[in-house]
Amino acid sequence: MIPSVLPTYNRAPLEFVEGAGAWLTTADGRRFLDLGSGIAVNALGHAHPALVEALTNQAQKLWHVSNLYYIPQQQALADKLVEHSFADTVFFTNSGTESCELAVKMARKYFHDKGQPERVEIITFDGSFHGRSSAGIAAAGSEKMTKGFGPLLPGFKHLMFGDLDGVTNAITEQTAAILIEPVQGEGGIRAVPDAELKALRAICDEHGLLLILDEVQCGVGRTGKLFAHEWAGITPDIMMVAKGIGGGFPLGAVLATEEAASGMTAGTHGSTYGGNPLGCAVGCAVMDHVADAAFLAEVNRKAGLMRQKLEGLVADHPEVFEEVRGAGLMLGLKCKAANLDVVKAGYEHELITVPAADNVIRLLPPLTLTDDDIAEAHRRLDAVATSLSAGNP
Ligand SMILES: Cc1ncc(COP(=O)(O)O)c(C=O)c1O
Repeated sequence: MIPSVLPTYNRAPLEFVEGAGAWLTTADGRRFLDLGSGIAVNALGHAHPALVEALTNQAQKLWHVSNLYYIPQQQALADKLVEHSFADTVFFTNSGTESCELAVKMARKYFHDKGQPERVEIITFDGSFHGRSSAGIAAAGSEKMTKGFGPLLPGFKHLMFGDLDGVTNAITEQTAAILIEPVQGEGGIRAVPDAELKALRAICDEHGLLLILDEVQCGVGRTGKLFAHEWAGITPDIMMVAKGIGGGFPLGAVLATEEAASGMTAGTHGSTYGGNPLGCAVGCAVMDHVADAAFLAEVNRKAGLMRQKLEGLVADHPEVFEEVRGAGLMLGLKCKAANLDVVKAGYEHELITVPAADNVIRLLPPLTLTDDDIAEAHRRLDAVATSLSAGNP
């Protein structure tokens, strides 16, 4: 008989009932060090007092009114995002997938309204992940995500990751945009080199294309800048955000320049819940922490420490780990052992990591983890590697 929860996940046999900082507790009192943050979501850790306060204060006043009316918390969060980014305007969603939907619509509408309705095609890259909606799976294009779900939304051209020559050759009269994650998450923590992001920006400028960045996983302080593209010194035309911006509350956003958003006039897009008072109250509290230069400096310091520990781990256990990847606190360990075995062995040592493609385990800890947490993470990963080398789970 089919389970009452649709069985689309291979779940670990773990059930958490409480969290604090970088720690999760099970019903029977086991404490797990969380290096997954619910897949890069709990940017400020579990039960951060400022987020608990923002949510409970708002919950006592007003939960929902719809976008038929002005929502002051939404306005405040949009103002913060505009102040701290390239963007002139923001649309709020509830997830990364919804942000992808709007990013694609916005790009196509832009060219439609500019009198070039034939420009609908979006260039994307292998290993990418943009969500599970029809646009999201068509954008990523992998067989794993698309098989059985056809006919797929047309208008995506898939290139190999890092194939800059391919990008220039792929551009035609139909091309509207390039869509890329500055650091691939699901694809195995693969960072696009700064020079390549710069080159993509230049190609977009040369050909009049829009550059869409998917910062759903790598944004909101995760790489040590508020947004990952800042390392490359470029700006996109459209950017997808979600995960960390809500700190655990379902919240996403599409940020855009005035020009790129020019087609999105009243009536062209909408969302019942997007930008609701609860989500935006939490989002404001997240931004108040993450957009702070001292907070980001700490993320970078801790990222340096974490990376150093992980490099040591790879050197100590070359039979289990191959290399450290990533940027800031968006780190990956490319494994020699099967990554799923490493993640599973982590559970035995009360350690949460997240698998990714390319035989990688992802380390996406809360940005607030402490130096002691980092030392403990190293101890537990070392114990995991030792047990795997000895042939134990
Ligand atoms: C880069 C990227 N884009 C989009 C998504 C989809 O986001 P959501 O699961 O919130 O719909 C994800 C989720 O993992 C992601 O990592």
